[in-house]
Amino acid sequence: MKLLSRSEAETREIGRKLGEKLKSGDVVCLYGELGSGKTTMVQGIASAFGISERDITSASFTIIAEYDAGTPFYHIDLYRVTPGEVPELGLQEYLGSAGISVIEWAERAEGEIPDNSIRVSLNHKEEHSREIEIKGIRINRDA
Ligand SMILES: Nc1ncnc2c1ncn2[C@@H]1O[C@H](COP(=O)(O)OP(=O)(O)OP(=O)(O)O)[C@@H](O)[C@H]1O
Ligand SMILES: [Mg+2]
Repeated sequence: MKLLSRSEAETREIGRKLGEKLKSGDVVCLYGELGSGKTTMVQGIASAFGISERDITSASFTIIAEYDAGTPFYHIDLYRVTPGEVPELGLQEYLGSAGISVIEWAERAEGEIPDNSIRVSLNHKEEHSREIEIKGIRINRDA
């Protein structure tokens, strides 16, 4: 499904609705250029698990941030990782677990991503609008 977000707040809201549909073990892959709204989307998804948006950052040196949200919540940001370094990260420990994993720049780890992952592509349209395509799950925007 394709959605249009017209603001950062709307992208967070779409993320929250997606988060509410997730179940234990789900992997969400986020694709999109710099500034397309991936971290904003993670903040929304995390909020569905009671994690404060302020705690979800694009910290320079944190590749994997783990949150205890009843079920573990893993925010994985591969921006600074080259595909050659991916095997060292031990991603399967997270992706194969009962926790929820959300991955920015997921294309850098494509070989390790489970086939049944939920894929979200963010496309920068205008300064404040983003086209958001979600595959593998349906959300109800009006709910
Ligand atoms: N509709 C929108 N949805 C999301 N972000 C928006 C929107 N409109 C404007 N923005 C702005 O775009 C930026 C998105 O930043 P964000 O860190 O979420 O992107 P990112 O894809 O994670 O970038 P990076 O590749 O650097 O990690 C923010 O500054 C936000 O305010
Ligand atoms: Mg980011």
